[in-house]
Amino acid sequence: MQIEYSRIVKWFRYNHPNKMDRLWDSLSPNQIIGKQWLVNSLQNVQIPRDENGQFRIEIVGGWYGYPLIDLLMTEYPGQIKEIDIFELDEFATKVIYRYSQIFGHTNVRIFHQDYFTYQETRRTHMVINTSCEHMWDMSHNKECYESPDRTLLVLQSNNKRDEIEHINCVDSCQELLEKNELSEIHGDWKRMNQGTPDKFIRFMVMGKWK
Ligand SMILES: C[S@@+](CC[C@H](N)C(=O)[O-])C[C@H]1O[C@@H](n2cnc3c(N)ncnc32)[C@H](O)[C@@H]1O
Repeated sequence: MQIEYSRIVKWFRYNHPNKMDRLWDSLSPNQIIGKQWLVNSLQNVQIPRDENGQFRIEIVGGWYGYPLIDLLMTEYPGQIKEIDIFELDEFATKVIYRYSQIFGHTNVRIFHQDYFTYQETRRTHMVINTSCEHMWDMSHNKECYESPDRTLLVLQSNNKRDEIEHINCVDSCQELLEKNELSEIHGDWKRMNQGTPDKFIRFMVMGKWK
């Protein structure tokens, strides 16, 4: 285990002992598998970049932000200009802030707000949302981007409809693509929690807005 994760465990234990179970959930095998799968799959696509070869990322519904941010920073050292992370839950934004301090990630900006209410026009090279099952389709925000057809979207959702917060599940990569008005560059799916009654499928698509 990296020392940084040991430090966040210590911070939780002393400051938020009643939330330790949420920390463990955010670092569960499913979480690690899902985020590692995403970062490995980025090898199959070309991430758009600026004239200096760097790129900006937005993460939507990022929960505690890590391990995803750690995996991205490790995979693309010096290439990530900025990561903007949108998260509704105030406590989660505190955790992201603490993690980013511990890791020394000074280029992470945290937005404590609903992604769909942030209507600034902007240029972002890649938008990642691994929580699509929790919210509206991303196409609602398409007009906020200067070049939607040059923005890479990386989306994950699932068919786990037995959770009350899962308001926008899908049954295929095709459905996830169509709902979000994307043309496909890469799509894949994975069975999660195999061998348990709680099994479900996670879908991932990477594409650009049509
Ligand atoms: C509990 S996490 C689930 C993570 C997902 N299953 C995964 O593996 O990455 C979903 C997060 O999305 C956040 N969220 C939901 N709707 C949002 C929105 N419209 N804008 C920003 N964050 C949102 C919630 O606050 C929550 O922290």
